[in-house]
Amino acid sequence: MLDYIDDKLYIEAVSAESLADQFATPCFVYSKSSILDNYRAYTDSFPSPHRIFYAVKANSNLSILRLLNSLGGGFDCVSGGEIARVIQAGANPKQIIFSGVGKSETEIRTAITLGIHSINIESSGELDRIEYIASELGKDVRVAIRINPDIEADTHSYITTGTKKDKFGVAPLQALELCAKINSWPHIILVGISCHIGSQISSISPFVNALEQILNFVNCNKLQLEFIDIGGGLGVTYQDETPPAIKEYANSILSILGDSTTYLIVEPGRSIVANAGVILTRVEYLKNNFAIVDAGMNDLIRPALYGSYHNIIPASRNEDETHTYNVVGPICESADFLGKDRSLTVKPGDLLAIQSCGAYCASASSNYNSRPRPAEIMVDGENCTLIRKRETIEQLWENEQCDV
Ligand code: LLP
Repeated sequence: MLDYIDDKLYIEAVSAESLADQFATPCFVYSKSSILDNYRAYTDSFPSPHRIFYAVKANSNLSILRLLNSLGGGFDCVSGGEIARVIQAGANPKQIIFSGVGKSETEIRTAITLGIHSINIESSGELDRIEYIASELGKDVRVAIRINPDIEADTHSYITTGTKKDKFGVAPLQALELCAKINSWPHIILVGISCHIGSQISSISPFVNALEQILNFVNCNKLQLEFIDIGGGLGVTYQDETPPAIKEYANSILSILGDSTTYLIVEPGRSIVANAGVILTRVEYLKNNFAIVDAGMNDLIRPALYGSYHNIIPASRNEDETHTYNVVGPICESADFLGKDRSLTVKPGDLLAIQSCGAYCASASSNYNSRPRPAEIMVDGENCTLIRKRETIEQLWENEQCDV
């Protein structure tokens, strides 16, 4: 999606400079073809009856949801807000899975009333709540139990979700108790087992281990299921990670499944959108070894929160001498860095592109320091469309009361 032509950076067929001139900075820019290619890599590698449910939390922009909906995809949602977004984007409720450890009564009521595909259950208390609401509404509910397989996913501790220490899912023994409860209740139908061990996983073995455990659980307990949901997708390359191709990962997973009639659900987020997006940002000042830019940790929280690496490249390349900079934002926190020790040739006013910003960036952005959230733009060949306007200053306080 990114290419230099005559030393000018292009996103598909549109130059970074022209995007910055038209939409100002900082802004998020996504490549439509890149999202489509990434998505199709999953649908090609996990052919029907297996199903892809995009993890909305990675990037919940309506245009992206609409694009994936047009391809017939499903959606993994973790809040009432995400469910509402997906419906707003035109999805059929039957394409929605509802995950998450803290589903509120209102959210569960909405999900059941809509008749979504299934709810991933994370605790006994949640199951009781679902049963109570389903009985009250007189509706059947399809559920999957999320098992915590106690597997290390070799990723950052904040995005490891499948070990005993984590709040997610239930241990296999407890899952059995939940199965027994479900069997005794007329409104609740067990259709699947789910499992999500973490995100940004760059090797196949943790996924294989998890699926083997789940299959073992299913077979030992002779469960008749529609599907096994193996959670999120593969990690991506931010710096020097070398995740396998989606096809290779799919083949390994599918070979474990053998000739079972149970289909797989995969909920990829990052690998669909991360490397389809950049943030364009201009250098405001140079000071000592700092390049101070107009994007901050409110736009891109990942380096501050996880110490994650995002490659930073110039919109115009030249052969001038490079210097080593910490690329930092305008936020009043020393954690507000976007990249440390980067070799760059820059001067104030120069435009930079921060790579791999399509996932968990715009969707995790905030108004911290009262900064309006940036514009988001989708590029499709030579065309670009504003898919989210930059927030205005007035929007910062539109929900606030001034007369107390
Ligand atoms: N399914 C469930 C139940 C999840 O919790 C997640 C991600 C996914 C699917 C999607 O996983 P993926 O394909 O994106 O790896 N903010 C963090 C990432 C948090 C991921 C949380 N769960 C980051 O910026 O790295």
